[in-house]
Amino acid sequence: MSTTRTDLDLMFPQEHISLEVSAQLPSDLQIRPLASTDYKRGHLDVLAVLSVVNDLGEAAWVNQFHAMRVTPRAYYSIVILDKASDKIVGVGTVFIERKFLRGLGSVGHIEDIAVDKSQQGKKLGLRIIQALTHISESNGCYKTILNCSDANIPFYQKCGYVQKENEMAKYAPERGHTPKL
Ligand code: ACO
Repeated sequence: MSTTRTDLDLMFPQEHISLEVSAQLPSDLQIRPLASTDYKRGHLDVLAVLSVVNDLGEAAWVNQFHAMRVTPRAYYSIVILDKASDKIVGVGTVFIERKFLRGLGSVGHIEDIAVDKSQQGKKLGLRIIQALTHISESNGCYKTILNCSDANIPFYQKCGYVQKENEMAKYAPERGHTPKL
């Protein structure tokens, strides 16, 4: 059974999601903020399309949800939901970084974009990026950035992003089975 917006405990208000982007989705899909009950709707199953998840269970997931939500104007995780099955088919996050540079400016970091394999190629990834970019820009961010594989560069170019500089990474020493993304 599908769940209406008002029933849900959301990470941030629905008003942050662009109406224009919402209107461009097929009527059987809904784009909205992540909700505290979305573990059950397959949030991690969709993220697993991107990388190793290491599911620690629903209680741990809910704790993480609340830890992210309690930080004001920082984490904006969104989902695309298939209304008929009440399952999540697309996910993404933008993290707003506050800076001392640029007149105490902010930068939006897009992270963890994934679309369920059965739904890829239907412009859902594009809608997620458009919605997250809107959140970033309406928060006053002077730029929105992300890291991606070479294979995904054409996708982000289609979303209006351009290649700039390089990514550097240093992984911490192995702690058990911590996955490398
Ligand atoms: N190479 C070339 N073009 C591509 C690619 C690609 N790998 N992926 C998408 N496109 C094009 C599409 O053809 C489409 O072009 P069009 O407008 O000319 O028709 C346009 O980009 C938009 O594509 P969507 O249909 O919106 O893409 P989709 O919904 O399949 O989502 C995504 C793309 C998110 C990369 C999806 O394939 C996916 O989940 N992949 C696995 C996980 C992943 O790699 N996530 C991104 C990690 S990077 C990060 O998180 C910051």
